[in-house]
Amino acid sequence: MSHEAQPAVGRGKVILLGEHFVVYGVEALAAGIDRGVEAVARPAERTSLRVAPWGTAHTGEGDEDLDRALAAVLPEGGPPLRIDATVALPAGAGLGCSAALGVAVVRAIAAHRGEAPTDAEVAERALAWERVFHGNPSGIDNTMAAHGGVALYQKGEPLVPIPTRGRLRLVIGNSGESASTKEMVASVARQRGRDEARFAKTCEAVTSLVRNARLAIEAGDAHGLGRLMDLNQHLLSGLMLSTPRLEEMIGAAREAGATGAKLTGSGGGGCMIAVVEDEATGARVREAIEAMGAEAFVAEAGR
Ligand code: PMV
Repeated sequence: MSHEAQPAVGRGKVILLGEHFVVYGVEALAAGIDRGVEAVARPAERTSLRVAPWGTAHTGEGDEDLDRALAAVLPEGGPPLRIDATVALPAGAGLGCSAALGVAVVRAIAAHRGEAPTDAEVAERALAWERVFHGNPSGIDNTMAAHGGVALYQKGEPLVPIPTRGRLRLVIGNSGESASTKEMVASVARQRGRDEARFAKTCEAVTSLVRNARLAIEAGDAHGLGRLMDLNQHLLSGLMLSTPRLEEMIGAAREAGATGAKLTGSGGGGCMIAVVEDEATGARVREAIEAMGAEAFVAEAGR
């Protein structure tokens, strides 16, 4: 009987609250979503990584980022492998696509070798992959891609998993506008430099939003969480991180019944997220965003 290997999985992630301020030591809430990357490794004559639907192939020996990332996670002296990965996330939109791919590839290689690494070990191996793309990554993407669930993240501190009551339902919409995280982070730094005392007050406000959001998640209170996300969005747009398109998508999501909505990640484009209470509202919110010509999907987070 032929035995087809089960695909290995890496999850996409969203930042629920606290992006940007997390750079200055504020806690952020992140979630691994049920959409990401699947990968399978099989014996082959030559090592290769093929990524669908991008249609790209890499050997680990070229000088493209994906070659260098693959080389960073291939075990030394191992037999050649053909790795087939399928990506179900938009790339470069703040959903942790590269980390999800890294985690899926690391897990596929480990499964092929008969190893069963823990989530923490997978996250650690995938950090070498992420470094190729992000230089000095905070570690949130590879950690969430490996662990899933909802977690509190603070720079330099171990991740704190947050138990959820039921699964968190989100609608994620991609504005299609591309933004550079580096530039958005630099713009916040400039604004902070102009009025440090005011920025410190905003950090305090976000800290309290994040703490209350944690309690709302633990209590399964989608209304409370939504309201706190709306307030977080207000502070993010005050720092000019939102765009007219993101605002329109966020407004449409609220109008269609979301309990709250905000940009997620770097802003200046990329994705927005909305919290919904049930499946029917999720479908309505997704349709409202799609009606604006944007890509949207329903995702669940939590364990
Ligand atoms: O757009 P993303 O998912 O890469 O998120 C960037 C998050 C920031 O807080 C803006 C930057 C950071 O390093 O945490």
